[in-house]
Parts: sequence; structure tokens; C-alpha cells
Amino acid sequence: MVNNHEDIWVDWVDALSEESCLVIDDFISDHELSIFLDYFQEHLNDDDFKKAGIGAGTDFQLKSQVRGDYIRWLNRDNDTELADFFARIDEAIAKLNRYCFLSLSGSEFHMAHYPQGTFYKKHLDQFNHRSNRLISVILYLNTDWKEGDGGELKLYLDGHEKIIAPIAKRIVFMRSDQVEHEVLETHVDRYSLTGWLLYQPPGLTFLA
Ligand code: OGA
Ligand code: NI
Repeated sequence: MVNNHEDIWVDWVDALSEESCLVIDDFISDHELSIFLDYFQEHLNDDDFKKAGIGAGTDFQLKSQVRGDYIRWLNRDNDTELADFFARIDEAIAKLNRYCFLSLSGSEFHMAHYPQGTFYKKHLDQFNHRSNRLISVILYLNTDWKEGDGGELKLYLDGHEKIIAPIAKRIVFMRSDQVEHEVLETHVDRYSLTGWLLYQPPGLTFLA
């Protein structure tokens, strides 16, 4: 991992502030990608994924009308194969705090599998009862994705829409509280890693 990304991060952070979203291609190397794909396959084989929810108690059919993905949460202490990726995410958090004056601390990530024919309807990633998700992050792992495969991410930005193909090694950052988005129906199995950078209010140091 090269640690000398100062200039590039200034540009990236500008894009995120101006557009509320940022798309970076080749965020991970081919080597990292192969680690992810092996890791994904291992957990798919073990049937470790669970149907993603939209609120406690919602029935299966209703969930499927909103989102059809299956997820497995990551735990950075156990998922040591992904240490390099988590280091990159920590770097992103440090840069965003520095250049965007955000108060980010920590993250949560899950792997996501959208089987053929599934989607995730238009939504915001911040729920009212739990609003510490500040930046959404999605890393795509679809090596053979081609036009017509579907599963694009559609962003509803100020005055325009943006369609992002879920191609391998591409990462998307967006403001969780500002950007409505949806996953268009995928016609092939679709794999990604999705997470959130969490807002941590600055400590109440004035009380100390
Ligand atoms: C989500 C989501 C987008 C994607 O999981 O909340 O919107 O492209 N994912 O997978
Ligand atoms: Ni979302």
C-alpha cells in the first residue's frame, strides 16, 4: 500500500464535497481483488449469507419487493484476510476528516450478493432511528460485468441522475444522508462489499 496519496485525496475529497459522490476505478489491485473473490466464494459455499432486512419483523415477501440481496457482516478482527482493505478504509477516514472536516470514526461493512433478478429500490442509507452513517462506500467485485448485465447503481443527484456500472475494483463513496440511490435489477449474480463510515460526535471535551 502506497501511503503517498496526499494530492490525489485532495481531488477526491473535492469531488465528494461538490457532487456528494465520488467514483474511483482500480481502487484495489488485481491481487486484492482475487483475495476478495476467494473470500467471497468460501463464505458463499458455507452458506454464511442472510437475507438483508428492511426493518425488524418485515416478512420475506415484502423485503424482496424492496431489496433482494443477501449479506454477511464483516468483523475486522476475524476477517484478517481483508486487513489491507480495512487499512485503505482507515486511510480514507483520515483524509476525509482532514480535508472535509468530518468527524468520522470507525466503519461497518458487509459483503453483498444480489442473485440474478434482484434489486434494491430507491432509498437513503440513513435511517431516522440511527443516523450515524455519514458516508456510504461500495466496492464492486464483478470481473466479467458487461453492458446488459444490469445491477447498475443509480444515484439521484441534485438535478441529474448518474448510472454507475458495478465493475470490479471500482469504489463509490457517497453521502449517506444526501444521496438517494437504487440498485437496478441485475441479470447476473452481482457481488460487492458495502459499508458505512460512521459519524462520531467530537468528545464533550469542554466538560473535562
Ligand atoms: C445499500 C446499497 C448499493 C450497491 O446496500 O444500501 O445501496 O451498489 N448498495 O450495492
Ligand atoms: Ni443504499
